[in-house]
Amino acid sequence: MSAMRTMETLGQSRAVPAISVTGLRKSYGSHRVLDGIDLAIPKGMIFSLLGPNGAGKTTTVQILSTLIKADAGEIRVAGHDVTTEPDKVRAAIGVTGQFSAVDSFLTGEENLRLMADLLHLGRATGRARVRELLERFDLTGAARKPAATYSGGMRRRLDLAMTLVGTPELIFLDEPTTGLDPRSRRAMWQIVRDLVEQDGVTIFLTTQYLEEADELADRIALLSQGGLVAQGSPEELKRMVPGGHIVVRFADPDGYRRAISHLGATSHDDAALTVQVPGAGGVKTLRKLLDRLDTHGIEVAEMTVHTPDLDDVFLALTKEPTR
Ligand SMILES: Nc1ncnc2c1ncn2[C@@H]1O[C@H](COP(=O)(O)OP(=O)(O)O)[C@@H](O)[C@H]1O
Ligand SMILES: [Mg+2]
Repeated sequence: MSAMRTMETLGQSRAVPAISVTGLRKSYGSHRVLDGIDLAIPKGMIFSLLGPNGAGKTTTVQILSTLIKADAGEIRVAGHDVTTEPDKVRAAIGVTGQFSAVDSFLTGEENLRLMADLLHLGRATGRARVRELLERFDLTGAARKPAATYSGGMRRRLDLAMTLVGTPELIFLDEPTTGLDPRSRRAMWQIVRDLVEQDGVTIFLTTQYLEEADELADRIALLSQGGLVAQGSPEELKRMVPGGHIVVRFADPDGYRRAISHLGATSHDDAALTVQVPGAGGVKTLRKLLDRLDTHGIEVAEMTVHTPDLDDVFLALTKEPTR
């Protein structure tokens, strides 16, 4: 994340947030899908709603994008109330769903033109915008071919291009890379980053992939059992689960042997001359560790901190309850 973007994000966050939600509830029959969700998402960031299949991610997107109604809650999107000003919300957002809006029988260009017509862009403006988007999403070569012939990655790109015809300030991406091959996924990630950096849009992204949230998101919320079980930056979330450790490599076998007896090492490696010490790697822990080794005149060659990854967080926080 560039420093500039962080500053912008901070600056904008004092203004109207892109999304603010309090007490959002939604049930289907007796099934409580969302049971009191609170969210505050500043403008210009990539926010990721992370959760397993069936957690309620699509339901949340549908409610925030005015496609379905919540049972309860105060929800403002792009500064407008979704219940009383749905049209204003719709004018400010773009949604690319888990199930694409692309018409397979039409060509890529026709799909985009249709969108431009629906938005009343006017002939010249519409054509220019369509051409620009085909170019940007690397679809110019396939522009005259029916979307049915497109690969999964091309389809997603076309879908996103269609969303962008209306120049939205906030884009919902519901599992944008599910089912894509690794290369297409990476291409989509870059497109998402560009949207934020070049177009200044806010992204609300849902995903089941921890790696994707870690890769893209400024902020992640973990959805499980109808509630947000954790929220924060990827780094903050990783710090929430224990399991971090510090690995110290010593300059010589003598220091290494003495260190094992002085430190509460959980494991060590004779060949690599490394000792593993439990701890999340905070400044205080590291300083204490170095001080202790210093006192005994033990020379450290290298020190690395291992924080748990998002998989650890996910497993720790989304455990199925024993009902
Ligand atoms: N229209 C509907 N009618 C009944 N149940 C629904 C409907 N839509 C979603 N659900 C249920 O709500 C839960 C959350 O679904 P969804 O929001 O699609 O989850 P996710 O997108 O995280 O996979 C699931 O258990 C799903 O079966
Ligand atoms: Mg879904």
